[in-house]
This record gives sequence, C-alpha cells and structure tokens, in this order.
Amino acid sequence: MRVAALAHPADFEGWREAARVCLAAGARPHEVAWRIGEEPDLFAALAPLPSAAPSAAPPTEPAFRVPREFVELAQLAICHADEDRFALLYRLLWRLRADRDLLGRITDDDVFRLRAMAKMIRRERHKMEAFVRFREIADAEGSLFVAWFEPEHHVVEITAPFFVRRFASMRWSILTPLVSAHWNMKELRFGPGAAKSDAPSHDRFEEHWLTYYANIFNPARLKIGMMKSEMPVRYWKNLPEAALIETLVREAGKREAAMIEASPTPEPRRAQIILERMKKTANAAGPGAGHNALPGLAQEASGCRRCPLWEGATQTVFGEGAADARLMFVGEQPGDKEDLAGKPFVGPAGEVFDRALAEAGIDRASAYVTNAVKHFKNEPRGKRRLHKTPDAGEISACRWWLEREIEIIRPQFTVALGATALRSLTGLSGGLMNLRGMLAPSDLVGEVFVTVHPSSILRMPPEQREAAYAAFVADLRKLARLMA
Ligand code: URA
Repeated sequence: MRVAALAHPADFEGWREAARVCLAAGARPHEVAWRIGEEPDLFAALAPLPSAAPSAAPPTEPAFRVPREFVELAQLAICHADEDRFALLYRLLWRLRADRDLLGRITDDDVFRLRAMAKMIRRERHKMEAFVRFREIADAEGSLFVAWFEPEHHVVEITAPFFVRRFASMRWSILTPLVSAHWNMKELRFGPGAAKSDAPSHDRFEEHWLTYYANIFNPARLKIGMMKSEMPVRYWKNLPEAALIETLVREAGKREAAMIEASPTPEPRRAQIILERMKKTANAAGPGAGHNALPGLAQEASGCRRCPLWEGATQTVFGEGAADARLMFVGEQPGDKEDLAGKPFVGPAGEVFDRALAEAGIDRASAYVTNAVKHFKNEPRGKRRLHKTPDAGEISACRWWLEREIEIIRPQFTVALGATALRSLTGLSGGLMNLRGMLAPSDLVGEVFVTVHPSSILRMPPEQREAAYAAFVADLRKLARLMA
C-alpha cells in the first residue's frame, strides 16, 4: 500500500502530482491510500510514495495524455465532500489509459459519480457566490468586510477568485469552519477555519439591505417551492434577509390584494387595443405561438410613437432571434449601425458581444437579442450622430414592447446588458457593478442575470480593455454554467 498525502481537502495540484507518481510506478488503484495532511503514526508502517526523480520506476506504458475534460471535471470533483473522491479520480485516471472514451460512457458507475460530483460543485460554487453576505468592521487598516459561510463541500478555494474580481477594491475575509480566505486588495491568502462568532453579526448597512429586500419581494410572484430550490433552506441561517421570509410569505396574500387595489393608471386606449390583439394572436395559435406573434409585434413596433425618439431615428430596431429561445439578451438601444441595418447588435458593440459569446460557448443564433429602447437616441454632430443615453421616461415608454416580447418568448434566462437594461427589467437605477455576475429580482422575468454592456469595454482606456473584456467573458461563462 502506498500513501499519498495531500495538503488540504481540495488540493488538486497535490493529487495530480501524487497520481502522476503512482501511475508512473504502476500502483494499482486499490494499492494507493489517499490522506489529507500528515499523519505519520498512522502510516509509518506503510510504504511511502516513490519519488518523482528520474531514478523512479519507469512507466509501465508510454506516457498518455490526460483528456482535458477529465482535468476540468476532476478539478471540480476534488472539492466534493465525499471521502472517496481521490480514489475515484485515480481509478478513473487508471482506467482512462486503456479506454480513451471512458468519459463518454455515462452509464459507467465511476463516470456517473464523477459527473454528478462536478455538477454538485458547480451548484455549490454558484450558491456561495450568491449567498455570501459581508458585514463591515473597522480594524487598524480601515474598513474590513467579513462574511461567515458554511459550505457543504470544499469550494472556498475555487470560489474565492470570484470575490476577488467582484470586490477587488475592498479588503475582505470569508470565514468558514474549515478554511478562511482573505483579500487585502493585492493578494489572496487562505488560512485556518474559524467560528461563526469570529464574524460580525450586524453592521450599519443591514437595515438598508433588509428594507431593500422587503421592497423587492414580490408577493404576486411568490412560488415557495422555487424559492427554496433557488435559496435552499440550509443557507438561511446565515442570510440576514431570511429572517424576513416567514413574515413576507405570511403577508403575501394581503400585499398582493393591496397591489391590485393600487394598480397604476391603465395603459392608453391604443396600447390596450394592441395588447389585447397580441394576446389573442398568441393564445389562438397555441404552443409555438411565438413564431406567429413576433413578426406581428415587430410590425406594430415599426410604427411606434410612444415617445419622441422615433423622430431622430431611421427605423425601429426590434428584437431578433428564435421565438422559443430559452435565453434572452436585453441591451440598451440600437447604435448608429443598428439604426441603419434595422438589426440589434451588428455594430462595434455587437462584434465584442459576438466574440465574447463564442468564447463563453453560447450560441447567439439560439438566443433572442433585443434592446430596452427600440429607437436610436442620438444628437447630430456634423456628419456624425452621437449616442445619447435614453432617459427614464423613454425607457419606461419602450418597456411596453419589451414586456410583449417577454410574454411571447417566455425566456427561461434573461440577461441585462448594462444599466439601461437593468433599469428596464428591474426598476433599479444603479448598482450595476455590485450586481454583475448575479441574479437580480425582476417583475418581468422573475430573475435577471446582470452583466455590463459590451460597449462599456470599448469606452475603457486601452490598458484596461483586456481585463474588462475577460471579466465580461467570465460573466457569460457563468451564465452558461447556470443554464447547463
Ligand atoms: N448597443 C445596444 O445596446 N444595442 C445594440 O443593438 C447595439 C449597441
């Protein structure tokens, strides 16, 4: 029996090195014991691993290339709490030498377990990204934001870089029972675990956060099963807002009735007529109705005069894409190129968007792409037309079309590209950078995935563009993981 000692529970590099040595020595899976940390008494009697020096036993076969997919899955699966994970990974590696197609055999027990573990870790990582709540304290160096989190698996090391990107300009610590992560705005360090009492239980922002949460909680959209699946109950004890849930759920019926009572002034008569007609068309056509309803809606929108923006634009630029798309992207408004072409995202921002989508493995052709505002707002300057940001009134007037598009397409995932889309979909008039890479509640679609607008990357100083683009691609990759 050989003993492979790993430095910590998610020590992928240590596992990889030990597996390489074991494989080179021809150690069969049942001949390797995997242990975390040093336990000399327990294992003194066991043969140590051979060294990786050139004098070690020669490999039994020519070196083989480990499939990239295995490395990606193993990096995730090693974070799983299952004690057998190191042995499982080594067994798979051993078997892969003789069967290159092993990972494709999804009914194989080992492969099935590997994939299930990787999936679980993706989910746990996403939950950690969503449910870590920082509270501010002051120490000798100023503000420090500290969070307490209790992951079920060993995801702190792989998730910490997300918080570095998101809160790069804050000093923060994430404490968990087994390990802690610390960022001092220069360097990410990991240290020993901590106790819940080491983290603050309140801070000066807490009341604001709770008020915000209570306000965005929409009683008319309450689906308790869905809420518990998105925000599993085991996280509630460390979420300040969870204390409100019971009361909010209890009062949902009353609040919904009050909302109906106080509903805003009805749409103008013309809008009502169009809406009724669109609904009839969509309902009459049954499943797949979107295929018929969208062109009709686009036709209606081509004559839109809901705000004065049509006067300075060439044409309405309506959304484009599959009517049964699972995914909908919402941008700001058409630019100069889009205004002339009559299609969204075909100019410079569209190029950045297309490239980033391709890098993230998202197929634009299967998504629906639209804008919060359908006319190009601009200011003529000589021969050029300069982009002007749409104001709240214009966004609100055009929201009518976005609502109809959403009604027809019923996307499973909706993405707000930038502040205007965020405003239209959620009513929030700020906070884009805090929310990016996360889901924000939306009256229109339930939840919206938030990221920056691709044109913001083009407006960056050249030396910052590459990093901004990489962060955008990272957001889209995250979206792809969410959709997987
Ligand atoms: N910017 C947008 O928001 N939408 C487009 O279609 C083009 C640029």
